[in-house]
This record gives sequence, structure tokens and C-alpha cells, in this order.
Amino acid sequence: MIAAHTTLLIGLYQWLFGRYGVFVTSLPEGTSVMKDKFFRFFWVEHPTGMIIAIILITLGYGMAKKVVSDETKFKKAFWYFLIALLVILVTVPWPFRQIVGRPIFPGMH
Ligand code: HEM
Repeated sequence: MIAAHTTLLIGLYQWLFGRYGVFVTSLPEGTSVMKDKFFRFFWVEHPTGMIIAIILITLGYGMAKKVVSDETKFKKAFWYFLIALLVILVTVPWPFRQIVGRPIFPGMH
């Protein structure tokens, strides 16, 4: 829960004011966010996916506090966490991804 929200804050900062921040970067001439694969990923797909995942993690965590049987709450929490994990895996800029991929160890190559 703490990790998810810390990442959310860092992400929001990077998204708005980072190297390619929405407020500090202008798009290359003659294109638009949704047409440029790189900007579509870092401005739209990655933030949307991660925010959905963080919402699911928060809901799963909230489940654990509900007054229902342990079995019900852990089952529900399990699905929230599992779907969050899948969304995270799909929206990470893995090194093998074309255009948006980032190296595992930046600076080492
Ligand atoms: C579970 C949450 C998240 C994970 C696991 C995650 C993961 C990552 C990774 C692995 C990178 C590449 C870093 C590198 O260059 O090596 C990255 C970059 C980035 N993330 Fe996230 N992220 C998360 C949440 C978010 C959120 C919520 C936002 C925006 C609201 C966001 C916005 C960005 C941006 C803009 C970049 C590019 C920054 C740059 O290169 O200047 N991230 N993220």
C-alpha cells in the first residue's frame, strides 16, 4: 500500500514535470499525443494502467478490513491484487518493448 502510493506520487511528478512531463515538453512538430507511440505510452497508457492498478491495490487492501469472513475477504483481495499485478506487468516499459522499452540497468550497455 505504501509502495503503491509512493510510486503514484513519483509517477505523477514525472508525468507532469519529468523529463517528458506534460507541462514541460512540447510534442514533436506535426504529431499528436495519440499518434506518437512514445508519448501515447508515457502520457496515457502507462499512467492510466498504473493508476488503475493502484486503485485495485487500494480496494484489495480495504477488503482486508471489512467485517466478513476471512475466506471471503482474502479471496476478494486476491483477485484485486492479481488483476493489479497483471495491469502493472502489461504497462511497464519492459526492455524488450519497441520504442518505449527502458533498460533494466540504465547506463550499462
Ligand atoms: C505501480 C506503479 C508504477 C510502476 C511499477 C512504474 C514503473 C515505471 C518504470 C519501470 C519506468 C521506467 C523508468 C526508467 O527510465 O528506467 C517508468 C517511467 C515513467 N512513469 Fe511509471 N510506474 C508506475 C506508476 C506511474 C504513474 C502513476 C505515473 C503517472 C501518473 C507514471 C509515469 C511515468 C512517466 C512519465 C515515466 C517516464 C519518466 C521519464 O523517463 O522521464 N508512472 N515507470
